[in-house]
Amino acid sequence: MQEEWIKVCMSSGGVAAGSEDVMAAVEDELAQRSLAVKALRKMGCIGCCHADPVVEVKPKGGKPTIYERVTPEQAREIVAQHFQGGQALESSTPTDEMFPHQVRIALRNCGIVDPECIDDYIAHDGYSGLRHLLADAGPAGVIEEMRLSGLRGRGGAGFPTWVKWNFANKKQADVKYMICNGDEGDPGAYMDRSIMESDPHGVVEGMILAGFAVGARQGYFYIRAEYPLAIERVQKAIDAARSYGFLGERILGTEFSYDLEIRLGAGAFVCGEETALIASIEGKRGTPRPRPPYPTDCGLWGHPTVINNVETLSNVTAILQRGGAWYGSIGTPESTGTKVFALTGKVKNSGLIEIPMGTTLREIVFDIGGGPISAKPFMAVQTGGPSGGLITKEHLDTPLTYENLQKLGSIMGSGGMIVIDEGDCVVDLAKFYIGFCAEESCGKCAPCRVGGKRMQEILEAISEGRAQMSDLDKLKKLAHAMQKASLCGLGQTAPNPVLSTIRQYAEEYRQHIEDRTCRARRCVALVKYQMELKKQKAAAAPAGAAS
Ligand SMILES: Cc1cc2nc3c(=O)[nH]c(=O)nc-3n(C[C@H](O)[C@H](O)[C@H](O)COP(=O)(O)O)c2cc1C
Repeated sequence: MQEEWIKVCMSSGGVAAGSEDVMAAVEDELAQRSLAVKALRKMGCIGCCHADPVVEVKPKGGKPTIYERVTPEQAREIVAQHFQGGQALESSTPTDEMFPHQVRIALRNCGIVDPECIDDYIAHDGYSGLRHLLADAGPAGVIEEMRLSGLRGRGGAGFPTWVKWNFANKKQADVKYMICNGDEGDPGAYMDRSIMESDPHGVVEGMILAGFAVGARQGYFYIRAEYPLAIERVQKAIDAARSYGFLGERILGTEFSYDLEIRLGAGAFVCGEETALIASIEGKRGTPRPRPPYPTDCGLWGHPTVINNVETLSNVTAILQRGGAWYGSIGTPESTGTKVFALTGKVKNSGLIEIPMGTTLREIVFDIGGGPISAKPFMAVQTGGPSGGLITKEHLDTPLTYENLQKLGSIMGSGGMIVIDEGDCVVDLAKFYIGFCAEESCGKCAPCRVGGKRMQEILEAISEGRAQMSDLDKLKKLAHAMQKASLCGLGQTAPNPVLSTIRQYAEEYRQHIEDRTCRARRCVALVKYQMELKKQKAAAAPAGAAS
């Protein structure tokens, strides 16, 4: 392990905020001072996305320390004063104080390892247990550890991972496939992209272990084409793993042969749905089909197939390193382990966080997120993205678990979490989500294709002061029909944010419809302007002045 380093966040967020210039400035300053340029490392996302570009410094004998919103000029100062001089600048925060309340398992390597260096991953225990698991534990041993862990899929539905693997393992078939779902289309969510960019080997290792457990010879990463950095780094990780004998024929001298390839998604939300994703990999139009049969029975090209989410697979690697019982002891009995959330919206510290299941929303929004970003009071949190609903301030102390969120009329989803304050309008929010789903509907089934559009039109009428109270009943009827009759999860869950806001903010809907007012003044058509004409005293204009 290196004794001294400077790491610059080179994730998509960091690069967008200017970290390439920061990197160049550090490089130049190190060279000018004839300091060890090899100490300079690329870092993945540590989650403090509001503070990009982020730089971490550890001088010889010193503690790792983080700097936020670093400019190229500051970067030079950090090199001179902290890295070389050993004197931390005032604006620094010790790294171990950076993540209060967080437990980083899926994100354990993000910001720690160089995502483009397999040796660095190995130096951080990567691939350490692979030989033993493949040679000694066998698929049954791997699945048993997963059962003990209680891990539920992090892609949205929360299905127990070991059960899915067990189905596929028991299925008699010559050909089976493993797929990593890196499509991630929920607005506001970028956990999976960040993990693939920051710790690609963690996911590749998870894919190897999953493929081994289910008996696959081939695995695919399905990654949306809008994630070029994730694609590049996962490809590098696959190539490096193959060159080290972790992929390919007779892996590490065992009977197990397995390889990985990437397939690109064109960016349609519905292609994250597992049957649509399979169709897309097969080269067909990415539309869903009815289930059963489930992919574990009849998946890619008709063969048994397991699909897991990126975060799920990143957890798998940690679980099999440290044991299922260890993971199962974190969180709550039914919702074990941790969950990564993309905390965004009206909150001071937005970014990625990973917390034990059972943490309350209050801890997330106020202790980790730092509370509302403006003087406007906190109002609610939208969890579960377009498939979820609002958790209001009365429920801030509810422990976050799959079960509790469902009881409150929302879901965990993939982990998008948007904080809204009194400056936001719930009709506007509902309109945004239903508009997204209507736009993303594949059109294959009428309830989703037509229902989403009609709901969008009614919400537009409400936000423009053209609706009647009876339209709320129409909205509810359409919502229930969509939930019951849609072919896939997109249409079945699209009405959730609308129903959730109607249920919890009935008075706001009434105000829009009957009073033609929008409390938050977000619905532009309902904003009224008044001119106050005051009598102006005729100013005593100097004689001869122009009037
Ligand atoms: C419209 C729609 C979009 C979805 N998008 C994703 C996605 O982007 N990533 C993902 O992992 N799962 C997504 N899912 C869930 C997948 O269909 C599937 O349940 C999941 O990938 C299984 O992995 P897990 O068991 O590890 O959660 C989506 C589901 C629906 C209905």
